[in-house]
Amino acid sequence: MTAQTSTTRTSPAPVRFPHDFVWGMATASYQIEGAVAEDGRTPSIWDTFSHLPGAVLNDDTGDVACEHYHRMPSDVALLADLGATSYRFSVAWPRVRPDAGPVNAAGLAFYDRLVDQLLSHGIAPWLTLYHWDLPQVLEDAGGWTNRDTAHRFVEYAVSVHEALGDRVPTWTTLNEPWCSAFLGYTAGHHAPGRQEGAAGLVAGHHLLLAHGLATQELRSRGADRLGLSLNLTVPDPSDPDDPADVDAARRIDGLHNRFFLDPIFRGSYPADVLEDTAGRTWQDRPWLDVVRDGDLDAIAAPIDVLGVNYYHGNEVSGHPRTDVVGVGADHPARVAHSPFPGSEHVTFPSRGLPLTAMGWEIQPEGLHRLLRRLHDDYPHLPIYLTETGAAFDDRLDDDGRVHDPDRIAFLDAYLRAVHDAIEEGVDVRGFFQWSFCDNFEWAFGYAKRFGLVHVDYATQRRTPKSSAHWYAGLARTGTLPAPPAADD
Ligand code: FCB
Repeated sequence: MTAQTSTTRTSPAPVRFPHDFVWGMATASYQIEGAVAEDGRTPSIWDTFSHLPGAVLNDDTGDVACEHYHRMPSDVALLADLGATSYRFSVAWPRVRPDAGPVNAAGLAFYDRLVDQLLSHGIAPWLTLYHWDLPQVLEDAGGWTNRDTAHRFVEYAVSVHEALGDRVPTWTTLNEPWCSAFLGYTAGHHAPGRQEGAAGLVAGHHLLLAHGLATQELRSRGADRLGLSLNLTVPDPSDPDDPADVDAARRIDGLHNRFFLDPIFRGSYPADVLEDTAGRTWQDRPWLDVVRDGDLDAIAAPIDVLGVNYYHGNEVSGHPRTDVVGVGADHPARVAHSPFPGSEHVTFPSRGLPLTAMGWEIQPEGLHRLLRRLHDDYPHLPIYLTETGAAFDDRLDDDGRVHDPDRIAFLDAYLRAVHDAIEEGVDVRGFFQWSFCDNFEWAFGYAKRFGLVHVDYATQRRTPKSSAHWYAGLARTGTLPAPPAADD
């Protein structure tokens, strides 16, 4: 089956995007750079975690990854060939401030060269400060459950801004704090692998605080396009007439979406989430005691752009179910706990939609509803899809090419959902495909390929897939052609 079969809103005709729409591609430091011990870089939580036996599928690590640290100039040239008008990358904190100590000029110099290289190819740099590689020494002191980490993040953010603020237009603080907090500290599926219930709530608060404080600090230093990327979901009750399912969907909306959106845009945690988690304690006290006066004002510091990462929504049930997908079903490497403290009973039944190689449902209409909902419920900010894409079991064929019609169909369907939202007045200004190249897919290691560019890990040879050529055409013309036939 291909993505097309799940597309309920597909308009058959070609569609044209606004002329200044941003056509981007995204990566993250630990997933592509390798060179983990070079030029002064010290370990992050992902170095430690990926070396724990059984933490990552096939015991893969990011030690070498795509060797992007050494291949950066040719990778940027390839980005340019493929028509990217913007490139979303992240900076590795332990390169810039190894062991969270003083600034490391050699580490910072890599990003300095990257930014210059991008600019020389006419590609706008889009910088993420934190895509999950926390210095291990900070984790040893409690990681994101320690309030001090938020202050250390501000120091680090300032170091990067002092070096690159003159050339990087867009600064985002965090990538997907839901994952950092709840997969890292409650479920244990991601680094640092802690399974400590309310620790996810505490980590979530400190991540938001880090975002708010860094936003204020960088704004005071002249940054004028600030934001963050949230991974948001669209939770639908299995049976909209079943109160337990409706309640379960509300809970997931609360912990996945509103736990982040409400403090940022309204300066408060949602009352129902506080009720659902009221019994959860951290160090023998209600978890909410970690929130201090003034924190929510800092978190609500105005931002200029909202990054949305969307892969799929969820059907949600309040009953035990075994026919599940996604959360709970996609953790082959490690026994994981529910990432939803206080709502551990919630299950995620399959809807029978086509799946990507991640086991994630292909659900473009969810993206359309998500964009409408953001428009209806939150202040109107320019929105950028800072991630979407799909893993499929791509193979290098005998002809030396990679044919990936499923990925083209997926992107076509998701982009049509974006276009529908734009037509209806939602201010979506750009799209960053995840990912420029195949890379280290966290707990799934190298087993899952999300790239527009195929990477042969034995030789590091890059081969643009058919989707890369298709995307290049899109970036050049701004027009999505008529949907491809299912067998392309
Ligand atoms: C997101 C991450 C990104 C990548 C994609 C598939 O959650 O931000 O690094 O792994 O999923």
